[in-house]
Amino acid sequence: MIDIPVYQPSLSGNEKKYVIDCLDSNWISSKGKYVSLFEESFSEYIGARYSLTVCNGTMALHLALVTLGIGVGDEVIVPTLTYIASVNSIVYTGATPVFVDSLSETWQIDPDDIERHITKNTKAILAVHLYGHPCDMNRLQEIVKKHRIFLIEDSAEAIGSRYKNQHVGTFGDIGVFSFYGNKTITTGEGGMLVTNDQTLYERALHFRGQGLAKYREYWHDVIGYNYRMTNICAAIGLAQLEQVEEVLQKKRQISIWYQELLKDTPFTVHSEVNEVYHSYWMICILVPEAQKRDGIRELLLKAGIETRPVFYPIHMMPMYSHKYQKHKVAEDIGWRGINLPSYPALSYEQVKYVCNSLKHAFELI
Ligand SMILES: Cc1ncc(COP(=O)(O)O)c(C=O)c1O
Repeated sequence: MIDIPVYQPSLSGNEKKYVIDCLDSNWISSKGKYVSLFEESFSEYIGARYSLTVCNGTMALHLALVTLGIGVGDEVIVPTLTYIASVNSIVYTGATPVFVDSLSETWQIDPDDIERHITKNTKAILAVHLYGHPCDMNRLQEIVKKHRIFLIEDSAEAIGSRYKNQHVGTFGDIGVFSFYGNKTITTGEGGMLVTNDQTLYERALHFRGQGLAKYREYWHDVIGYNYRMTNICAAIGLAQLEQVEEVLQKKRQISIWYQELLKDTPFTVHSEVNEVYHSYWMICILVPEAQKRDGIRELLLKAGIETRPVFYPIHMMPMYSHKYQKHKVAEDIGWRGINLPSYPALSYEQVKYVCNSLKHAFELI
């Protein structure tokens, strides 16, 4: 039996009140006041001019790529160490994902490796702030400026993350967030697209709403999508956003506990590097040897503790492995990494129990 899950949302604010308001007022689809309230509050919180609610983070990524006109014949550079949606969304457009390695210190996309992979077909970099640690935004901005290509920030896992005090998702052309049930703030399923560019915002809005023309009812002038969020989800999102700072502080405290308790052990905790604020969506560790990882996870499960493996590098998966590639850092992290329980309601005693179980498992394996 699992006593300590990897994640569970905390729904202790105005969620119920706002959802009941949606039901009482009959506004349950994608029209209703909570959609715009959530978008406005989100823009204010992260410091972007425009925010657009979307039905999930994957579709927010697809919408970002379509909005930027990316399609067949284009290449998009993406880290291989990421969640599958970052890569699949590129393929949905007909473009080709070009995998690059990550940095061993931060686990984020390696700017030197990006430079090595730029070709005349490169249209964009899709950078991912993995597990909530920001990428090296100074370097990424230099690269996109030099090569005149787009920058999309997959900030699905990174609400609250800052690079030099600026919220991630606001450095590039478009930023994308996910509000899936295990994210730092959730709407059940949901996502957000953010931008500072009015034209991009208007294009994204147009594609999101079935490509409806402005000048005639039921007249569509592009092939659009229905990627809208419901008022009910937005109501939950607004209530969640009201509590985001509290949640982030709790998660930071939990990460400090893990770092202290695992200090003199063989495990390395994925921590902040340089001038960043890591939001610790998932608190991750590396075990010293890949062969021991799964055995340790099994012993933890027997102790009632759920863990997850860190994402496997996507270039190794069947549909993306037709061309042999080696990305050493991503492969090393992918086979040695573990996600530890990271939800805000964890107590010190629970974190201590996880750390003691880890140490014990390591001795037994
Ligand atoms: C890095 C990354 N990108 C994209 C997504 C996709 O978001 P969603 O699950 O809301 O579609 C996730 C989600 O879980 C993610 O971790």
